[in-house]
Amino acid sequence: MKSKALLELLSDGQVHSGESLAAYLGVSRTAIWKQIRRAMDEGVEIATIRGRGYRLASRLDLLDRDSVLQCLLPSRREALSLTVLDEVDSTNAEVIRQIAAGAGEIPVAIADCQTAGRGRRGRVWQSPRGENLYLSMGLTFHGGFGVLDGLSLVLGVAVANALEQLGAPEVGLKWPNDIFLPDGKLGGILVELQGELEEGVVQVIVGIGLNVHMSRAEGVDQPWSSLARACPEIDWSRNQIAGAIIDAVLDTVSIFSDLGFQSFRELWQRRDIFMGKSLQARGGDVEGIGCGIDDNGNYQVRTADGIVPVRAGEISLREMQ
Ligand code: BTN
Repeated sequence: MKSKALLELLSDGQVHSGESLAAYLGVSRTAIWKQIRRAMDEGVEIATIRGRGYRLASRLDLLDRDSVLQCLLPSRREALSLTVLDEVDSTNAEVIRQIAAGAGEIPVAIADCQTAGRGRRGRVWQSPRGENLYLSMGLTFHGGFGVLDGLSLVLGVAVANALEQLGAPEVGLKWPNDIFLPDGKLGGILVELQGELEEGVVQVIVGIGLNVHMSRAEGVDQPWSSLARACPEIDWSRNQIAGAIIDAVLDTVSIFSDLGFQSFRELWQRRDIFMGKSLQARGGDVEGIGCGIDDNGNYQVRTADGIVPVRAGEISLREMQ
């Protein structure tokens, strides 16, 4: 966003004259006026107070690298390389580029908007500017692809725990790793694997998209929710949410690397939104009642012929209305 410095000045919610803004930023009053127009075109609500200046009509939740770092445990700050971008094609793609360029630490990318946000199963992830959280992390695992079984479910547990600690109630998980609130989908996790760079070393790119302030969604074909819509009493900060999620993911993944998926099965199960529901899988070939996950993270459907395990990536699971 070209007018970011201006918006930072306005973010205190006070009225600022065109003259003072121009003097502070070292530009003309006309340039300030143009930046105000551009910000308004990008969806920022700015009130013009006749004879006095400009004021933000509603609070702005700007992304800020230092503020995210402040929310992290001090030991974490040095372990990761955090990039906060105004705009990017996809934060997952950005992390992949950073790994290819030889990123030493854990690369983490957050963006204010994505122009080619990607979802699971080749879907587009709508990524409007300034409203939501788009965050990706590059994680390294040792022991080959086999050690990753169940990782994607474990990540869902980490994100759900972080959100609940920030005050979101009843965060559920829809197998394998969609984040749900009672009124609809709040976010999703996209896990992308890079080939083994050296024997047994696997790079995993974890992309997390969360609806934070979003109040309308075009082209979204299922019930959705956002943190601000579900909990309007909380002053949601994307920087704080990002910090909490980064910490939770790194803590959780470290336990997962030591103990494997088993220790998370019960934690995932408690958030299962499909438990006891009538489900359909494999395009309707399997019908039955949801009964949680097995030791390998497959979803289990109790059918008339017994329990049928449904594998992640293989098929989708739909609740029958
Ligand atoms: C899903 O389909 O439910 C997963 C969506 C994952 C979206 C996130 S937003 C940050 C990261 N960058 C992307 O391009 N996708 C993921």
